[in-house]
Amino acid sequence: MGVWTAVDRGNGGGALSHTVLPAALRAALDADIARLDARQVTLAARALIDAYRATPERPSRPQAIAPDAWRAAYLEMRVPATHAAIAYVGDELARWIDPGAIASLLDLGAGPGTALHALAPMLPALTHATLVDRDDDLLDIAERLARALDGAATVSTEQRDLADTARPAPADLVVMAYALGEVTPRDRPRAVERAWLNARHAFVIVEPGTMHGVERILMARALLASRGAHIVAPCPHASACPMRPPDWCHVSVRVERTRRMRQIKHADLGYEDEAIAYLIATVAPPSPAAVPRRIVARPRVTKGLVTLPVCTPTGLATLNVTKRDAAWRAARHARWGAPWVPDAASSLDE
Ligand SMILES: C[S@@+](CC[C@H](N)C(=O)[O-])C[C@H]1O[C@@H](n2cnc3c(N)ncnc32)[C@H](O)[C@@H]1O
Repeated sequence: MGVWTAVDRGNGGGALSHTVLPAALRAALDADIARLDARQVTLAARALIDAYRATPERPSRPQAIAPDAWRAAYLEMRVPATHAAIAYVGDELARWIDPGAIASLLDLGAGPGTALHALAPMLPALTHATLVDRDDDLLDIAERLARALDGAATVSTEQRDLADTARPAPADLVVMAYALGEVTPRDRPRAVERAWLNARHAFVIVEPGTMHGVERILMARALLASRGAHIVAPCPHASACPMRPPDWCHVSVRVERTRRMRQIKHADLGYEDEAIAYLIATVAPPSPAAVPRRIVARPRVTKGLVTLPVCTPTGLATLNVTKRDAAWRAARHARWGAPWVPDAASSLDE
C-alpha cells in the first residue's frame, strides 16, 4: 500500500521511511520544468522557499517572478512534499474505507494533480478523476502530468473557484490538499461544506502542519461534525481537540530531497521532514470503530522504556511501556501519527 520506500532512518521510537516520487511522475515533472529557462526557475524556486519560510516577524521579500516560473518552482520544490503528505493520508484512509470502493476522485484545488498521482496507485477501482482549480495553466500542467499515469482512469479538469455556488459532480472520494489555506477566510466554511456535499464515501483535507494549518483543520472538523460527518482520523474521539498551544496536532512525513532541491536550499541532507495536518471524514460510520488512541508526537525511547504521547477519548495521556510489558515490542516500533492499538494496551500505566 502507498509509496513508502524501504529506506529506513532511525528516528526515536519507530523507523521513519522517506518517500520518493514514482519515476514516471519524476520524469514528467522534469520535462515540464525544462520547458522554462532554468535560471528563471531557480530564481522562482528560491523566492518560493523564501515565501514558505516567511513569518510575520520576517516577511519574504517581494519579487517579480513570472507566473510560469512560480508554477515550475512549485513542481520542483513542493510537489515531492505534497505528494508524500497525500500518500501518507491515503495510507491512513485505507484503514477506514475499502480502497476498492473508490471509483471516482474529486480533487479540489488540485494544482498539478498531486493528489491523483499520490492516490491512484492505492485505488485499484479508480475509473475517473476530476481536477478542479482556479488556475487554468496549472490544470494544463495537470493534464500533461496525468499522462504519466498508466491510463487506467480518465481525467477531466474544471476551472472554478472552490467557493463557487455551482458544485462539480459528486465523487466517491473528495480531496482538498494544501488548498484551504489559499481560500479567503470568509469563503473557507463554504468551500468545506460544498466539498463535503460532493463526497459519496469520504472527504480528506490536508494542510501544512503549522498552527494556522491546524486551525483550519479544526474549523473544518467542527463544521463537518455539525453536518453529520464521521471524523475517523486522526482524532480518536468526537470531543473538542485537547491540544493547547504551544502544541498542535500534526505529524511529520519524511520526503526525499532531490539534488536540485539540495542545491536551491543550500542543504546537504538527502531528505527533509514535512509537517502535515489532516482530517478524514466519512459518510458512513467507521468500521471498525475509531481507534482508541493515536500517537501524537515522536515516541521517546530510552534504555528499557518507551514513552508514548497519545490522544485518547478522555484527553491527552503519556503511556510508559517498559520491557516487562507485553506491548514492549509494539512500543519499540511505534510511530508518531499511528494508532496505538497493541493487544496488551490495557495493562499499561497511563
Ligand atoms: C498549494 S497548491 C496545492 C496543489 C495540490 N493540491 C498539491 O497538494 O500539490 C493550492 C492550489 O489551490 C488552488 N486554489 C487556491 N484557492 C483556490 C480557490 N479559491 N478556488 C480554486 N482553486 C484554488 C491554487 O490555484 C493552487 O493550485
